[in-house]
Amino acid sequence: MSRGLFITLEGGEGAGKSTNLVFIRQWLHREGREVVVTREPGGTELGERARDILLHSKQLHISPESEMLLMFAARSEHIIKVIRPALAAGKVVLCDRFTDATYAYQGGGRGLAPERIAVIENWVQGELRPDLTLLFDIPVEAGRERAGQRSEPDRFEREENDFFTRIRKTYLDRAASEPARMRIIDASRSLEQVERQIVAVLQEFVHGQ
Ligand code: TMP
Repeated sequence: MSRGLFITLEGGEGAGKSTNLVFIRQWLHREGREVVVTREPGGTELGERARDILLHSKQLHISPESEMLLMFAARSEHIIKVIRPALAAGKVVLCDRFTDATYAYQGGGRGLAPERIAVIENWVQGELRPDLTLLFDIPVEAGRERAGQRSEPDRFEREENDFFTRIRKTYLDRAASEPARMRIIDASRSLEQVERQIVAVLQEFVHGQ
């Protein structure tokens, strides 16, 4: 049986994670891997309900601390019910966002100290960390322009550009400090060029296992 692999996708708004997720799933499939596609916040019934509160409560003020804890409550359920069982069965878990997003959004964006996030991360996840993270990077304004062409903005999308600039910086700093796990994809390029970058990373990673 193949070893389970935990792959996460990260990035700011409008970086094209969702479009590329389909491409990555198909690529892994062709490699003969069984893939579980999931997302955060979400992936379980509790997680999807928490997502609804976190993204779509227009009138509700949520403190940064509570926002972080809700993310981790959803994550805990997700790890116990979906991620660990799939990895134990040798599958690839392909997850649209994970804890790097908490460092970027609640840490960089909302100003929570990373040390406080790390305490909860260790408590909820134990040793579990992604094997590979693709960071879809795009300048804030270009990403927001793309995202803005979609649907009505959610609680995060309504924030100012400064918020997203801090998020982008946090993601890039994390990628610089963990270059083996976290690989930057230049998402401002054409779809074809983005796919080429993804394949190069996946080939190196999957065949290196
Ligand atoms: P998305 O799936 O469309 O990217 O939306 C999820 C939103 O939730 C996105 O704005 C980022 C935010 N988020 C956090 O703030 N912290 C987290 O830990 C996660 C997983 C997501």
